[in-house]
Amino acid sequence: MYDVDLNRIDTSGEAPEFEPERQFYYMAKCRDILQERARRTGRAQTACVTTFGCQMNARDSEKLLGILKAIGYEETEEEEADFVLYNTCTVRENANLRVYGRLGHLNAIKKKRKDMIIALCGCMMQEPTVVEKLKRSFTFVDLIFGTHNIFRLAELLYRCFTGEDMVVELWKDTTQIVEELPVERKYPFKSGVNIMFGCNNFCTYCIVPYVRGRERSRKPEDIIAEIERLVADGVVEVMLLGQNVNSYGRGLEEEITFAELLRRIEKIEGLKRIRFMTSHPKDLSDDLIQVMKESKKICRHLHLPLQSGSTRLLKKMNRHYTKEQYLDLAMKLKREIPDLSLTTDIIVGFPGETEEDFEETMDVVRKVRYDSAFTFIYSRRTGTPAADWEQVPEEVIHPRFDRLLAEVQKIAGEVCCKDLGTVQEALVESMDDHDPSMVTGRLSNNIMVHFPGDASMIGQIFSVKLTEAHGFYYLGEKAG
Ligand code: 5AD
Ligand code: SF4
Repeated sequence: MYDVDLNRIDTSGEAPEFEPERQFYYMAKCRDILQERARRTGRAQTACVTTFGCQMNARDSEKLLGILKAIGYEETEEEEADFVLYNTCTVRENANLRVYGRLGHLNAIKKKRKDMIIALCGCMMQEPTVVEKLKRSFTFVDLIFGTHNIFRLAELLYRCFTGEDMVVELWKDTTQIVEELPVERKYPFKSGVNIMFGCNNFCTYCIVPYVRGRERSRKPEDIIAEIERLVADGVVEVMLLGQNVNSYGRGLEEEITFAELLRRIEKIEGLKRIRFMTSHPKDLSDDLIQVMKESKKICRHLHLPLQSGSTRLLKKMNRHYTKEQYLDLAMKLKREIPDLSLTTDIIVGFPGETEEDFEETMDVVRKVRYDSAFTFIYSRRTGTPAADWEQVPEEVIHPRFDRLLAEVQKIAGEVCCKDLGTVQEALVESMDDHDPSMVTGRLSNNIMVHFPGDASMIGQIFSVKLTEAHGFYYLGEKAG
């Protein structure tokens, strides 16, 4: 992804003003310091990055790890590392609680390893109350930054190295998109690609627009160039990432829609599969359905968050669609693309949810028959409008949640068998966790299949006959 030789960077003068040159300068500076530390301690310096939350965060972590590796850190999964970074999520309260719990454990490790650097970044850091709490009660944390300035990791780390206590840098928002920094991909054969950042929708339960800032789309030529580089580097599948990919292009100089972007990406030679996440039902165009229908590369999977089946609640949620509009869209998608797998997100216990509202949600679940659904108990997020509304008591929410989950699982179990006996293409992602003579592949519709194979098959696409359905996965055998 980047081909700058840090050895050739002159670190004797002032830091360059412009990006990404400025960060390369600081990477070179940090690398000198790390080499010195390695000499002193007689071992390589290690870094552990832990990701909480969504695919957007997973992609950010690859960028963070790319910078850390360029500086000279060796990656480790052990938290007894020289540099430990949590890339946090704050979409629901329990994500925050997990971070605080694990920080206590890190503090115990740090007491034994004085040089250890503890860093926190990501969505949770964009909340002022969190940072106040950290400054007050978690003073052993060395570095805090947010979602808009991850590209500045090297510079911030340099400030830690040169003795600054608790470096905190948080930006409220940004219009800057810095390209061309190193990235360390988790998988050699597939990759996330950001096509846009932020969200402008302000669903009334959701904290994302406050912590990820306003929506900004990347230029199509930058996206295409990145994918071309990835393909040259062995990637066959990309996941286009954005909070609301269907509104891609707004605000760009060139007039372009998400459907048009997909048409251009489809033409990239060597690229075999295209996925994207997440679609907002209100912006899903007929043109997009047409592109999906015609495409040979776009996978047969669409994640279409419902959130609630009650038109009354959808209005309070600021979702801009009714139950009927959602159902019409889902049915149109199924009609136009019959092998499409539909998945969704649903929130139970949104403020004011009545038994009737909940039944409307169950009704949509029964009518759409999702391949799978992520079900969430509503979590009150300070600063969002819904946090101030009358909450549904826990003892009412839990039984509803259980009923929804049971229904979703029952239907998913039935729906996921539908391709039994057919031959489908699977991208082999790994060895099977349980059986060393088997590999695990992902079908176009996002369901996994386990079949006999070996490590040489990882990263390649095979035709697989689906011989047994096991609810959420298949067993199969190589066909042809
Ligand atoms: N409580 C529960 N679930 C939420 N989500 C977003 N905000 C909240 C919240 N406050 C869910 C939505 C979204 C998914 C990523 O997380 O269903 O689609
Ligand atoms: Fe949150 Fe709604 Fe934006 Fe999704 S579209 S990130 S649920 S505000």
